[in-house]
Amino acid sequence: MTDRAGRTAIITGANSGIGLETAVALARQGTHVVIAVRNAARGAAAVADIAARTGTDTVEQMPLDLASIASIRSFAAAWLERDEPLHVLVNNAGLLMRARTTTADGFETTFGVNHLGHFLLTGLLRDALVATGEGARVVTVSSGAHRGARHGLDFDDLMWERRRYSGFGMGAYCASKLANVMFTRALARRLEGTGVTANALHPGFVGSNFAREGDGGRLGDVGMRLLRPFALSPAKGALTSIHLASSPLVAGVSGEYFVKCAVADVTKWARDDAACDRLWDVSRDLVGL
Ligand SMILES: NC(=O)c1ccc[n+]([C@@H]2O[C@H](COP(=O)([O-])OP(=O)(O)OC[C@H]3O[C@@H](n4cnc5c(N)ncnc54)[C@H](OP(=O)(O)O)[C@@H]3O)[C@@H](O)[C@H]2O)c1
Repeated sequence: MTDRAGRTAIITGANSGIGLETAVALARQGTHVVIAVRNAARGAAAVADIAARTGTDTVEQMPLDLASIASIRSFAAAWLERDEPLHVLVNNAGLLMRARTTTADGFETTFGVNHLGHFLLTGLLRDALVATGEGARVVTVSSGAHRGARHGLDFDDLMWERRRYSGFGMGAYCASKLANVMFTRALARRLEGTGVTANALHPGFVGSNFAREGDGGRLGDVGMRLLRPFALSPAKGALTSIHLASSPLVAGVSGEYFVKCAVADVTKWARDDAACDRLWDVSRDLVGL
């Protein structure tokens, strides 16, 4: 077991699935884990679960709804007020929406939560990570589904107002996961020289709560139920997140995309620095960073 005592990690969406198992593993290593969750009751259940499974009492929850700029800002303000070092930020939360909806701020929900919410959160916590310096890490849970955005991001319609919101939201989901990889690449370049690294990952196909409670619609639910026997357990699905958050083997590695704990290829869109910079600028303007 790696000894990570004295380190602190914030993990979004860690009341469930891959995030929960990432929290368990980091807590076992001695890291002080803050689970950032949108539902206090589910958060409390997860804190109790992690404490029981790890025998630690250093796990806590803080409220964070990535579908609300106000919530993200108040989460970051509450964290920064504590003036504690932050070693790891795991941008893990994510969803798939079968129909187009919008966040509190009018963003299409998938793009708003999966990308813009984490973009703003990371931006607000950036100085805390940089103050921690050498060894601080940003880990963003993307997906192999980023490949589904076959024509890259449509910068003229990032909010899916003009195109058909088709395929049970898969189009929007794939685009949001491509945005995760592009954001990571742009972030890594902007963090050069600070000692802070940024990497993205695909966890594999995981039998979590993802798309289980209706986000994928009834057909999506049935599909997930049929496919679940072939899925990885959440504990296995969390291995690459845990690796990137804590392994000395990836110290200093930045701007990469990992599958099964190894660097993997991304689509050409995710290697296009001009597009990554464009996404950065558009995102910054949208969230008012
Ligand atoms: N499962 C897979 O096969 C798979 C494959 C590739 C990538 N991924 C990615 O893995 C990540 C984790 O997903 P999972 O499979 O572990 O699914 P999960 O069990 O559904 O967990 C998703 C987490 O995100 C949280 N979340 C959703 N919307 C949120 C919001 N507005 N604010 C804050 N938290 C929010 C959920 O909170 P609630 O419990 O309150 O809903 C939950 O804690 C996601 O980014 C997903 O895209 C999953």
